[in-house]
Amino acid sequence: MSKLSIMFNEIQFLKDFHIQLNNIRVEKELEDLRIKYLGKKGLITAYIHNSRMLELDERKNFCRKINKIKKEIMLILNEKKIYFQNKYIQKNIDLQKIDISLPGSRNKIGCMHPITTTIYYIESIFTQLGFEIITDSLEIENEYYNFSALNIPIFHPARDRKDTFWFNSNILLRTQTSNMQIHVIEKRNLPIKIIVPGKVYRKDYDQTHSPMFHQIEGLIIDQNINFANLKWIISNFLKIFFNEYVKIRFRSSYFPFTVLSAEVDIMRDDNTWLEILGCGMVHPNILQRFDIDTTKYSGIAFGIGVERILMLNYRINDLRTFTRNDLRFLKQFKQGRYFA
Ligand code: DAH
Repeated sequence: MSKLSIMFNEIQFLKDFHIQLNNIRVEKELEDLRIKYLGKKGLITAYIHNSRMLELDERKNFCRKINKIKKEIMLILNEKKIYFQNKYIQKNIDLQKIDISLPGSRNKIGCMHPITTTIYYIESIFTQLGFEIITDSLEIENEYYNFSALNIPIFHPARDRKDTFWFNSNILLRTQTSNMQIHVIEKRNLPIKIIVPGKVYRKDYDQTHSPMFHQIEGLIIDQNINFANLKWIISNFLKIFFNEYVKIRFRSSYFPFTVLSAEVDIMRDDNTWLEILGCGMVHPNILQRFDIDTTKYSGIAFGIGVERILMLNYRINDLRTFTRNDLRFLKQFKQGRYFA
């Protein structure tokens, strides 16, 4: 037996290898161990190289043994490598794991603003009464449509610089949706039966006034239209809107664009009256300006304050809450809960 084969203790060799293998914590160390044993200058390679010093028979035997060990080591290293790779994959899976038992995060569903809901609701009532809804309503207007064409004289206090948002001596933010009466009369053939919802602007700011608020303008021009028709429409609209018996009164009033003018008040919980709309027979001056034969045709018109009836319906006492965007306030108006 040669020195080499005596020196080579197979069991000890594998034992050493396993000790080192067990100390390995990361994949990189595994590669170092592979190089130490199987690399070009590795232990196994050195043994095979040195086996040349042995006699042929002995060399065959020795090499068989070494090759067996080499295979075994390769196998073990490979297994360990797979073990590290699996560990790495598992770690990633764990990191990305979705815990399906966790409570989900709910999608927050908004709700329509109470003013929008109210306008839609009012529109639906008037469409049932045969009105057409005009949506292309103009908020930036010139003096003519907002005042002159509506028979509002130059000296009328409604034109006051202090009350109206003027851009210059002619252009302004409309103070009423009545401007749309003129646009519609200008463009349409008779008969006319429309409502126009929209924003209006006035320099006012307190509990019951806001610089921007909403009105719904109504206009009918036809033959045989009279004040009784107006009363019927308004009374029935309010009955449907409040879904209950409401006490209303028509109070004689004045508007430059109507003759026979009235304001409609509604009785509040505390037995006081709140004005909610203005209405009347369209002034013949307006109709004649557009060559409408006033011996045949007449008109009725009304302007409803949206915030006013909304406040009444929900018993809200500060109109400014509608535009403060306080979610606690807005969340109370979930859809389907129209009436207070
Ligand atoms: N435009 C009036 C206002 O803002 C309301 C109004 C009154 C509209 C009488 C009308 C009407 O159409 O006939 O106060």
